[in-house]
Amino acid sequence: MVKYEWWHEAVVYQIYPRSFMDSDGDGIGDLAGIASELDYLSGTLGVDAIWISPFYPSPMADFGYDVADYTDVDPMFGTLADFDALVEGAHERDLRVIIDWVPNHSSSRHPWFVESRSSRDNPKRDWYVWKDPAPDGSEPNNWISVFSGPAWTFDEHTGQYYLHSFLAEQPDINWRNDETRAAMLDTLRFWLRRGVDGFRLDACHFAMKDPLYRSNPMLDVPRHGYKNLGEYDSFEHIHDRGHPDIHGLFREVRAILDEFSADRPRFSVGEIHLEGEEWASYYGNGDELHMPYYFGMLHGDWTAAWARDVVETQERVLPPGAWPNHVLGNHDEIRIATRYGERRARLATLMLLTLRGTPTIYYGDELGMAQAEIPPDRQQDPWGRRQPGLGRDGCRTPMQWTIGEHAGFTTGRPWLATVDPDRTRNVEAQLRDPDSMLSLTRRLIEVRKGSRALRTGPYEAIEGLPETVFAYLRRAGGETVHVYLNFGDEPVRVPAEGTLLVATQSAGSGPVDGVLMLDGLDGAVLGS
Ligand code: GLC
Repeated sequence: MVKYEWWHEAVVYQIYPRSFMDSDGDGIGDLAGIASELDYLSGTLGVDAIWISPFYPSPMADFGYDVADYTDVDPMFGTLADFDALVEGAHERDLRVIIDWVPNHSSSRHPWFVESRSSRDNPKRDWYVWKDPAPDGSEPNNWISVFSGPAWTFDEHTGQYYLHSFLAEQPDINWRNDETRAAMLDTLRFWLRRGVDGFRLDACHFAMKDPLYRSNPMLDVPRHGYKNLGEYDSFEHIHDRGHPDIHGLFREVRAILDEFSADRPRFSVGEIHLEGEEWASYYGNGDELHMPYYFGMLHGDWTAAWARDVVETQERVLPPGAWPNHVLGNHDEIRIATRYGERRARLATLMLLTLRGTPTIYYGDELGMAQAEIPPDRQQDPWGRRQPGLGRDGCRTPMQWTIGEHAGFTTGRPWLATVDPDRTRNVEAQLRDPDSMLSLTRRLIEVRKGSRALRTGPYEAIEGLPETVFAYLRRAGGETVHVYLNFGDEPVRVPAEGTLLVATQSAGSGPVDGVLMLDGLDGAVLGS
């Protein structure tokens, strides 16, 4: 039996702080900007928790995922006092605050790394991963950075290579050193004391690698995931991430969260791009991550069979008592409205918000914000500059609030341009339109919140429907909710009973004489 805590029942909303709301006119969003929109988040939209991407002091080589101080706020985003005010304002509204924590690497400008690279006998030398060159002077092994090129950079001054699974500006922390481990874990306590409700752990299974630093085997045929990572995909990544010792680390993280959970449970969600049983192993025996993010919905061939498989694969591999989750977008992916198209994005949102498991909405997806096209010479994202086509600026453009200039995001010049040519994909316009994506999302959240079946009921597939339809029911406390999703372009008729609670566009007023009509790409939620 699952004991339902806030994070089981929450709808989470991800905020990319550079792009959410700018309070001081410098064209970059900030914490005070987020604080000024808490009524939108908890009132208008109705989400229960926000996850804020990094706002730590950073040289911004990877826009904050290169942390130069784990216990402070970058002046660009504000101050610790602004953070405290944000948490206080959020908690007054019963809104939980989850922050990003980047365990695998710091910035190369973090004082720890500056010391570590200063000499071979510096006490912090071993806080990072330093290795001698191979006999021919080349890298110590064949590991590749996710962002392309060798995962090792040679330091002339001390004559050794250091490891970086991402940019050279993001040296990997040595989690096998007890002092580093203690110092890093203390940074969790710092934020827990400040009242945060949980952490999203960035690229966290990278934190433990093979202690012998062996080369990865090369694949005969490159194995691309849903993104083609080039040379990175030519290797089997068995040594450079996910070493079994990672589970011990996650148990320690969990114990710290539990230390602070007397008043309310503190929560962890890990960014882990794996599948199947391996993915599921990160729940541990209920003593590791509360959940590893499940990314199955981010990519697929958009058929009813695909959607069902995404849902049921996760359900099947979940350890007993573990809680599922779904994600449609984040700061690394192509915007859903562009990836699947606008109408499909509506259907996908209906699915996200009616499935079992904690849903996370990426800011702006509730407006159907589109992916911006940024020409290669204007890419700001380091990944896009190194590997054309993989740039992530397009999903990081400013939130669109109003029909006014720069969509009301800033009074200055936004760091990336907004994308609202016909001025319809903004909060102001969509609040007035009952058929807008925002109105649909608000209604779905409202229905979910009001329904114990949707929040907690098990998932049961409904069989025997046309091939293009994926349908399921959720049942709890005497209440049953049926969800019908037509992934096809043609209208379908399905046998159904119940009252229409919400629909993507044209399910009319619900079933008539036991038959529900669904247009192409239409979905409906029925209660009984
Ligand atoms: C994660 C983040 C991504 C970042 C990378 C390195 O994948 O989501 O934005 O660039 O880690 O920290």
